[in-house]
Amino acid sequence: MGKVKGLATAATKARYGRIAPIYDLMEILPELRYRSWRARFWEIVQGELSRGSRLLEVGVGTGKNIPYWPQESHHTAIDLVPGMVARARRRAAKLGVEAEIMEGDAQSLQFLEDSFDAAAATFVFCSVPDPVLGLQELARVVRPGGSIFLMEHVRSKNPRIGKLMDLVNPIVRNLMGPNINRDTVRNVKRAKLAISSVIDLDRGGIFKIIHARNIASLGGDSN
Ligand SMILES: C[S@@+](CC[C@H](N)C(=O)[O-])C[C@H]1O[C@@H](n2cnc3c(N)ncnc32)[C@H](O)[C@@H]1O
Repeated sequence: MGKVKGLATAATKARYGRIAPIYDLMEILPELRYRSWRARFWEIVQGELSRGSRLLEVGVGTGKNIPYWPQESHHTAIDLVPGMVARARRRAAKLGVEAEIMEGDAQSLQFLEDSFDAAAATFVFCSVPDPVLGLQELARVVRPGGSIFLMEHVRSKNPRIGKLMDLVNPIVRNLMGPNINRDTVRNVKRAKLAISSVIDLDRGGIFKIIHARNIASLGGDSN
């Protein structure tokens, strides 16, 4: 990893390390909205998996998705921040969910090619310093033809709102970690994943569920 990317990753790790102890508290209000979106997201994931599927969650955070994980899958999860990993492990233990939850960086995953049938991430690729590299890493570790599911907020297509998001982005990123002005659908295409569907969750077109397939290693073209 280059020096600039290394510094950006260290800064992201430090920011999320600071907020890990209060993350669930900070998210109480947004989570009122996200809860039904998480249920919908994981229903879509479950619909694509079969019994015994190997599932990777990237950027697991404090483990808010663990209650929704498909029961019949093998679960592995990573996060950049030790404080998040510890909280996610505690949540899994409390819920009686078996999982391997460990520290890791989406941009250089510690897994071999073809280790998973699918990967999922919610509100993560807004924070990964090099999102295209992270998405390419998911394509590397997910089997050819396997699915990658994302739930993300993106830059508004409304020019005024988009510009406002650009303006406040440095403040939000430096205080909390996420970039609020990324075009994650385009990043998925740039990572040479094939988009199967994009679902708008809100009227403003900011929150989306993206389902993509790993076709790079099948020799196909992304759309
Ligand atoms: C906004 S939080 C979302 C947490 C969780 N997915 C959720 O839906 O509540 C973003 C998470 O991504 C993690 N993260 C950021 N950059 C990462 C990276 N390069 N690799 C792995 N995790 C990362 C952060 O530590 C944080 O836990």
